[in-house]
Amino acid sequence: MPITWNESLATGSTIVDRQHKSLFAQLAALADAMKHGKGRHEIAAILDFLGKYVVEHFEEEEKLMNAVKCPVSAVIRQAQPRLLFVYGELRTRFDNAGSGVSLVLEMHEVLSKWLVDHILAVDVKLRGHVGNSKQDLVGAATRS
Ligand SMILES: [Fe+2]
Repeated sequence: MPITWNESLATGSTIVDRQHKSLFAQLAALADAMKHGKGRHEIAAILDFLGKYVVEHFEEEEKLMNAVKCPVSAVIRQAQPRLLFVYGELRTRFDNAGSGVSLVLEMHEVLSKWLVDHILAVDVKLRGHVGNSKQDLVGAATRS
C-alpha cells in the first residue's frame, strides 16, 4: 500500500519536506508500476531514480543540518551507508531474480518503512533549527 506524506513528517524545512515528498511519490510510482504489472525496465528505472535521489537527498540534508547546527547531522552521515546497503542488497536481488511481484512488494515495504522511520526518528529533529525560508536558503546555498 502506498504511503503518503503527512504533517507528522514535517521537518520545518521546505527543501527537505519537498524532497521527502518526492521520495514518497517515487515509492508510490513503484507501487503503481507493480499494481499495473509494468515490466522490469520501468521498475528498474524507478529504482535507479530512487537510488540516486536518496544519495542527493542525504547530502543536501546533511549540509542543511550542519548549516543550522542541528545535532543529528552526524546521524544522517551514518544513516546513508546503512540505507544504501539495504537498497544495494535489494537491488542485487532484483537484478539477479527479475521483477517478481513478491520481491518488488518487499522492496516497497522495506524502503517505505525505512523512510518513515528515519524521518520520524531523525529528520524531524530539524524542527526548531529551521522554520523559515531564510534558514532553508542557507541550506540551499551550501549545495554544490
Ligand atoms: Fe530525509
